[in-house]
Order: sequence, then structure tokens, then C-alpha cells
Amino acid sequence: MSGQTNRITISTKTPEFPTAPSLYGLFFEDINHAADGGLYPEMIRNRAFEDSLVPEECTTDPEEKIIINPYGWPGAFNKGEGMDEWAAAVPPTDIPAWYSYRARMTLLTDPAACLNPNRKAALEVCFEEGGSISNIGYCGMAVKPGEAYDFMMFAASGVPAVITAQLMSGGSVLGSAVIALAAGEDYAQYSAVIQVPEGMDTGDSSLSPCLVLTADRACTVTFGFTSLLPERTYKGHGLREDLAEALKNTHSKFIRFPGGCVVEGISERNAWRFSRSIGPVWERPSGWLMWHYRATNGLGFHEYLQLCEDLEMDAMFVCNCGMSCQARRGGGFSEEITDEYLEEALNALSYALDPADTEYGAKRAAAGHPEPFGLKYVEIGNENHGPEYNARYEKFYHALKERYPQVTYISNGHTEEAGLPTEMVDEHYYSSPEFFFEHVNHFEDYDRKGPEIFLGEYAVNGGNTIASMECALAEAAFLTGVERCQDVVKLTAYAPLFQNADYTAWKPNLIVFDSREVYGIPTYHAVSLFGKYRGDEVYGIKVDGETKPPVYHGVPGILCGKDGLKFRNAKLNGVPVEVTREVYGEVCEAEDGAFMMVTGSHRHVFTGKSDAWNSAFGRFIENSPFRGEKTLWAVFGENSEPADLTEYTFEIDVLRDEDNPLTLNIWNFRPDTDAGCNEPKDTEWTAMSVRRQSWRIDGCTSAVRVPGWHDKPLTPDETVQADIDFTRYNTYKIAANREGFDCYINGEFVQSCRLPLLPEVTASATGNGEEILVKLVHAGEEASMAVIAPDCAVEDDAVREIIAAPLDAVNSFADKTNVSAKEEKLHLSRNAEGEVIVDLPAHSIQVLRLKKA
Ligand code: AHR
Repeated sequence: MSGQTNRITISTKTPEFPTAPSLYGLFFEDINHAADGGLYPEMIRNRAFEDSLVPEECTTDPEEKIIINPYGWPGAFNKGEGMDEWAAAVPPTDIPAWYSYRARMTLLTDPAACLNPNRKAALEVCFEEGGSISNIGYCGMAVKPGEAYDFMMFAASGVPAVITAQLMSGGSVLGSAVIALAAGEDYAQYSAVIQVPEGMDTGDSSLSPCLVLTADRACTVTFGFTSLLPERTYKGHGLREDLAEALKNTHSKFIRFPGGCVVEGISERNAWRFSRSIGPVWERPSGWLMWHYRATNGLGFHEYLQLCEDLEMDAMFVCNCGMSCQARRGGGFSEEITDEYLEEALNALSYALDPADTEYGAKRAAAGHPEPFGLKYVEIGNENHGPEYNARYEKFYHALKERYPQVTYISNGHTEEAGLPTEMVDEHYYSSPEFFFEHVNHFEDYDRKGPEIFLGEYAVNGGNTIASMECALAEAAFLTGVERCQDVVKLTAYAPLFQNADYTAWKPNLIVFDSREVYGIPTYHAVSLFGKYRGDEVYGIKVDGETKPPVYHGVPGILCGKDGLKFRNAKLNGVPVEVTREVYGEVCEAEDGAFMMVTGSHRHVFTGKSDAWNSAFGRFIENSPFRGEKTLWAVFGENSEPADLTEYTFEIDVLRDEDNPLTLNIWNFRPDTDAGCNEPKDTEWTAMSVRRQSWRIDGCTSAVRVPGWHDKPLTPDETVQADIDFTRYNTYKIAANREGFDCYINGEFVQSCRLPLLPEVTASATGNGEEILVKLVHAGEEASMAVIAPDCAVEDDAVREIIAAPLDAVNSFADKTNVSAKEEKLHLSRNAEGEVIVDLPAHSIQVLRLKKA
């Protein structure tokens, strides 16, 4: 038990403001195979045979290991299997997920052979008598005893034939259906129900059960489209029951969809479009997602809206705003294409909101929903920014607002600063646990007269472990700060939502599933707990609690600059050190024993990536329009003894132009986890490595801060004007200690960074006429106590729900609720003043429900 007392004072008599009714929500993106083979429970992978087609506007290497988008950005392809790991895990085949036995498969791509103009491939199979083709699904098909499965296909056969569709596991037939094909050149649609008997042992391996289609005689059959879906779905609307229930159990109030980066796409033609996501599934064009697989859009606009309605959550649609993914070096589309996307957005809103006697309302009615859907929010673009974004945001905002004024529109950034009408701003934070603890008061000084804030994506995705209790604690601490500021922060959503454990392109994710099972990571249980207990009003709260100094450690120095920056005489604790790694760009020798940073050919190799990917990325850097503008990184002193330091001095002489800003990062670390998106996941150093404090000198302006997204602009008292002669080498020195670091130029002290103490106890309080709901996060590693002092009397009996676990505790398929909330009844202890005393178990998140007396 720690010695210090935590004191929490709560003012219930004059509530500060009402709670934001929709504070907790969800963010769905088709990432990690979250849709096909996930929430949209299609069991046949590559059901339209289009997975191996090279995405439009992209090129490949000769072996088709990677695709390269029009901006030069490479992504894993592997002939349509996607990520290298997945490709290695399945038996080789030219037509992903499909295999043949005494049958020859040929992929047809002639438009005349395809089912309809939106289909780009068909599968021709020459069966011998008794020959078959099979599909292994998304790492095995989840076949359950007693359940029925709807098989559907479009096929054309030269002769009458009988196809038997069987679900098989290890040689055993689990269920089957017989389909008689008529002879004819044209496609015909066939459907059959495969019933699996009660009590059947359905087997369980990564490649089975699978679907087998066997022909009774030698024949040639062309398949135009196939599908196998469970009959039993959430509220009968086609989505996977256990995953939808997992969403329901979060107590969320809204769902943001369909992305994320998929909204931006990898090219002009590839970005997410409403028009491709409605109508019969076999007529919906498929699209290659930047998360390394093709999606067939079975989970389309209608299905998203229906899901929201079924879950009783508000819908938030993110539309493409005429821009591609800027993080992958895409940019604004032409005016003509931008207008196409605006038209798409207008039509989507019409589909959702207009009466059934309008063009798009009629399409909705034809799909089974005559009444308008409740589309409440529309976000214009995802993670787009800069002048190109502002121009498009303005255009979209006015066009959409004029037609649908009832909708709340969300901007990707603080467009109000550019004088644009801005109702709500979406901010994203992915960072370390320390970042979230440090920023618990982040929203306190936001302008209450400015736009409302949507914390649209956040997650601890760096640190010692991911998807662990440590992450949940840091996020929950941050959320207590959000709860205290819900007069400005109106909506939040953890990101991303779903991870198919067999197809992971991004980690961590709130909910993990495979074909059969599902569990929530610790954060899932924390946000569900917070979402469950909302209250009507926010009470003033004061927390005098334990704090802890952060102890940062890591590799001494990373130097960041742009092309042409020269340096020499790097020293760690006075001893010369060398560049041990070039992360972005190259370091080459300059005159006088000095070195120069150049964009170069990006010598750094991303380990775990194919050679094709590495050389494509090198070419991308070489030819990038950002060449010369990109910040280059060099790491020093990784080989010094010890390399992992807390207290040290690092100094270096640098010659740079005034417009070449210099950044020195300290306490850098290589994350042990494979968090984040897989693009640079396997590299030994990523952006995650430099999330520690940094010193940046832009021109002569010096500033120290923690790098982060949506950094608030530097205030004048955070910056110092330094005396720098740009015609010569200047010596920049950082002296780091446990409290922070001091910065010197040419021996003159410039400024210091004092590390903020991290709060061990954070809290918020809401309530109503009957209850006070105290959310309490205790990050300390020892159990502690808190005195809770509300300004009104409370009863002796209370209830709490609490999550307590070691920092590295995680959930898994084997132990799904290892970290989860438990309800406890409390008989409250009191101190001499009659104030309530509650225990704070080590590493705990709780909601304490006090009954007003
Ligand atoms: O949540 C994963 C990705 O992170 C989203 O697609 C994107 O918006 C963000 O960069």
C-alpha cells in the first residue's frame, strides 16, 4: 500500500454542464478483414474470383509480390493473397483461396465472360467426372452443428450437370446440397441450403472446414459469382451475430464508417464510393483496400445504416472529399473527379434521408427499408489536411449543408482557423501510454466557443506491450479528462475496431476474432464500462493524487533534418559516437570529415519486407515529389555501452541553412511490439521510435516538446530565440537527466524541458438525482486509498464495477475475460470527518456508484 492519500472532492450541488449523450462510440473500418469474413460473414474467400487482379491504376513487380499505386507507394500483393504472412500460411494457388482436384481452373477476364459489367473475372472449371474445386475461406469456415448455410452461385454449364456443394472437414462431410445445372451459355442463379445436423463434430483447423463443389460428370462450368452465408445473423440482417453483439455490449451511441484510410483509397478510382456499395451484391464492384486485400462490398452503405439501426446507434458516414491518402503521399483529385465524389456523397445522403418517392429513397425502399435511416453525422474526408483539403472541405460543406441541414458535419481539422464554417473537428491520437497520461488535461483549454471536438481515433499503440492492461489504463486516464471536458468533446471512438487474428494488418484493435470466436482486448472492457455509466450531468471534481516521475530511457540521439544538413563531432558523454542507422535517407561523407544528410536511395531496409517492397520503397523515396522536403533521420550511438540510457549528454556540430529545421530526439527506443499498421511494421525503427521528447530548432526558434498529432500551436513562451550563425558549424548539446533535459547552443544555455509528473490517480464524476458515478483510474503499481468527499451525503452501501490486472495482462482466445470488469458491493468505510474511503487496487479502472442519501 502506498503511503500517500489521494483526495477527491466532488461538487454535486451545481453541476457544471450536462453530459454529452453520445460520448462513447465505435469506428468501423474494413481493416484486418473486418468486413468480408468478419462482420459481413461471407465464408467464401475470393467469392468473385477478382482477388488476383491487379488493382486499377497500380503496377506490380514481375512476380506480383507488391503493387505500386500511382503515387509510387508500394503495398503487399502476392498475386492477390495480400500480406506476405498470409501468402506464406496458405497452400500455393493462382486463384486465391480456390483449389482443384481432378479439375482444371482458368481465370477468365474477358468482359464477355463475366457475369455483368461490374464483374471483372469469372472462373472456368473443366471437371473430370467426380472432380471438384474447393475454397478454404478466411482460414477455415466456422461451421456450427444445427445451423444452416445459404449457398448461392451464378454458373453456366455446357451440359446438364449436377454439382454437389459440401461443407467438409478432414474428409468428413458436415452438410451438403445438390444443385442441378441446366445446360446453357448464359449464367443462371442457383441457390441451395446446406444444413449441418445437430451434434455434428465440425472439426477445427486453420484450413477447414472448407467448401467443396463436386461435379457428377465431366463438364465445363463457368462460375460468375459465389457466396456462402450463415442463415442465422444479427436480427436477420445478414451480419455476424457474435460480432454484432460484441458491439452492442459496448453501450456505444454511434458508429463511424466506412473508414479511415479506405475512404481515401490508394488512387483516384480506388477510394470508397457509395455507388459501389449498394444493390445486389453480385453487381457491386469490388475494390482493393490499402490493408492488402480486396473487398466485395457486401457490407455496403445500406448494411452499415441497418447495423446502426439494429444496434440503436447513430450513424456517422465518412465520405471521400476528393483526396487520396496523404499519409501515403496521395493528394487532391482533379476538379472533375472531386465533383464525382461530391455527387457520391450527395447521393449517399439522399439514399439515407430522402423519402421513398425520390430516386435514391426508392433504391433504399427496394432494398427493404422504405423509411429514411437516421444518418446523424457526416465527416468530410479522413485525415486530410492542408490548403487542398480546406478548399474541398468548403465545397463539400456548403453543398451538403444546403441540401441536408439537419446533419452535423465534421471536419478533419481545425478549418475554423482558416475562417471556414466548422461544426465539429475530428482529432486522432495514436501514441505511448506516457503520452496519454501526460495529456489527461489536454482538452481543458480548448475554446468553448469554437467547434465541438470528436476524438475520432485514439489508441495506445506503443510501449512495452500493446492491447494490454497498461494501454487500457492510459486510455482510461485520458478518458477521465475527456469526461471532465464533455462540454467540448462530444464524441469519442477507439480505433481500429476489429482484427481478424488470421489477417492482421494493424494492431492493436478493440475486438479480436477468427472464424469461430471473439474477444475484447482490455480496452474493450474499459470503454464498455465507461459507456455503461454516463449520468446526466457533469460534476466539478478536484483530484489531489499521487504522481510519478516518468523515467524515459533509450538510445541517445536521433538527428532529423532535410537534404543538405551537415554534421560532425557527434559525442555521447564526451566520447565520439557514430551514426549507427540511417532510417530515412542516407548519410554520406562530406568535406573535413563531416557528414551530410541526403534523401539518397533510402538505404534502410525494412526487415520482414520482401525485396520487391524494399526496392519499390527506395524508388518511391528517390522519385518522390517530396524529395528534399522529407525529414531524414539518422540514429547515433546504438552500439555505445550501455545504449539504453536515461541520463547523458549528446552533442553534435551542425551546419544547416536557415530553412532546414533541425530536430534532436532523445530517449529513442525501438518498440518490441509490432504495433501499428504493417506498412513499416517490420522495420526496426519507425515513427514510434521518436515519440519521446525532442528539441527542434526552426530557423533561430528553439522549442522543446513531445511530438504528437494535433499539437497545439506553440505559444510564445514555449519558444526561445537562439543566436545562430548559419555560415558555420554550431554545437547543439542536450544534457538529459531524470527531470528532463537542458539544451545548449555553442555552450550557451537555450532552454529546458521539465518532464511533467504522470498522474497515478485520475477521476471524473457525473451523476443524476440519485447517484454519483465516479470514474477512477489508478495507475500505481501498489494498492492505494482515496478519500472521496462529495458535497452531499451518500449512503453506506455502494456498488462498483472494477477492472484490475497487472500491466502486461492481456485477453486471448484461451482466456477471453482475463482482464474484464467485476461487480462488487461495498459497505463504505469513512474517516473521522465522515468522508468516504475507497481502496484503489493496483492498476485499476473502476466506476464507483455512490447513492445520494
Ligand atoms: O485506424 C487505422 C487507421 O489509422 C485509419 O484508417 C486512419 O484514419 C488512421 O491513420
